[in-house]
Amino acid sequence: MKVLIIGSGGREHAILKKVLESNKVEKVYCAPGNAGMEALAECTYIPPDNVDMLLKFAKKNQIDLAIVGPELPLTLGIVDAFEQEKLKIFGPSKAASMLEGSKIYTKEFCQRYGIETATSELFEETSLAKEYIKKQKKYPIVIKADGLAAGKGVVIAQNEEQALVAINDMMLYEKFGNAGRRIIIEEFLKGEEASFIVVCDGKNFVVFPASQDHKPVFDGDKGPNTGGMGAYAPAPIITPALRKDVIENIIKPTIAGMAAENKPYVGFLYAGLIISSDGKPKLLEYNCRLGDPEAEVLLPLLKSDFVELILAALDGKLDSYEPVFESKTAVCVVMASEGYPGAYKKGILITGCDSIDDKNIDVYHAGTKRAEEGFITNGGRVLTVTAKDRDLKTAIAKAYQGVKQIKWEGVHYRKDIGKKGLRR
Ligand code: AMP
Ligand code: GLY
Repeated sequence: MKVLIIGSGGREHAILKKVLESNKVEKVYCAPGNAGMEALAECTYIPPDNVDMLLKFAKKNQIDLAIVGPELPLTLGIVDAFEQEKLKIFGPSKAASMLEGSKIYTKEFCQRYGIETATSELFEETSLAKEYIKKQKKYPIVIKADGLAAGKGVVIAQNEEQALVAINDMMLYEKFGNAGRRIIIEEFLKGEEASFIVVCDGKNFVVFPASQDHKPVFDGDKGPNTGGMGAYAPAPIITPALRKDVIENIIKPTIAGMAAENKPYVGFLYAGLIISSDGKPKLLEYNCRLGDPEAEVLLPLLKSDFVELILAALDGKLDSYEPVFESKTAVCVVMASEGYPGAYKKGILITGCDSIDDKNIDVYHAGTKRAEEGFITNGGRVLTVTAKDRDLKTAIAKAYQGVKQIKWEGVHYRKDIGKKGLRR
């Protein structure tokens, strides 16, 4: 088979590595891929939001299967466009990716199907949103732009002033363009977050091990949120009883609801959960894709043929397919540029990232570029180092052993990835 992978992050590098392990695959193309992916596959510079060009490329190169990494092409309707041309592509349709593309849609969906989530109010007018805030007494409060805002559309306001600034930014100054024209204001939920990812075929689903990301930039969950600074799986916070609860009360009603509304969900479905101190799970948000960096711990644990899993989902046969995972723990640490998630410099020489010689350590590229002298930094999140071992403690030690071999000026990473899991 000829496979096309769409996207350019650590997640897509991990997808590529897994796809190459399948004996069904003869050639892989990536659009656009990154400097690490270039060494393994043919990369073509087509941005992920250019659906027309991706479609042309897939037709010309007779792609048998396209796998979409990021949310943007999905919400733009890449799956519908490929399917119209009878090309196989894995991901939700434009209508189904509304679960990530519109927070308001998801809130209303949760209400229709009794899925537990934060209570919220929808606002389409700045003045009404401000009036509502002025009546609030309980802080923090959460302000969310309705649409995609490159992961920046959520503000946890600690007081009235911050809330009003967020409302102005989103609704008045349109900091996120159309995405912030409508907002929701919702209750702040206390608890620990977990990522619960399933693969769906429209009707049936299979479950990946639960994982935990580390969103804030600094140790101890301090500082601004990032795309994710590291992850580990399986995450013990999701006990077998909680897993059952999440499946019965969140995942099943979602998949059945989407099917009932004629938007059958096919693809990865990522439920961002919050687990309160009394052990109750609530849905924070849905993503219509694999998480990044969650993919960099989940895929290395998958023993089954990844392409076979995707084909089973596309054929609607997940009821008779059970993926097998290694009984190990995987930990990944994201290595970022100095200043990220704010402004950062690019073009700094990286050393050591291609000399790690341990089959249980993987280095996934994200923001890198190949220069004459070697790899240089080219983004905020630069590399993800993943290690697998028999338990969380040893996997953490191994991941940091990998991280320490890689250096560049100003490199920044969290030193406490996985610590939350050790406490359990
Ligand atoms: P999102 O962009 O929806 O993924 O939200 C980003 C992050 O904001 C989440 O991962 C949470 O850490 C936080 N967050 C979003 N909604 C809430 C909420 N209602 N209560 C507490 N934290 C939240
Ligand atoms: N790890 C968070 C995300 O992929 O959205």
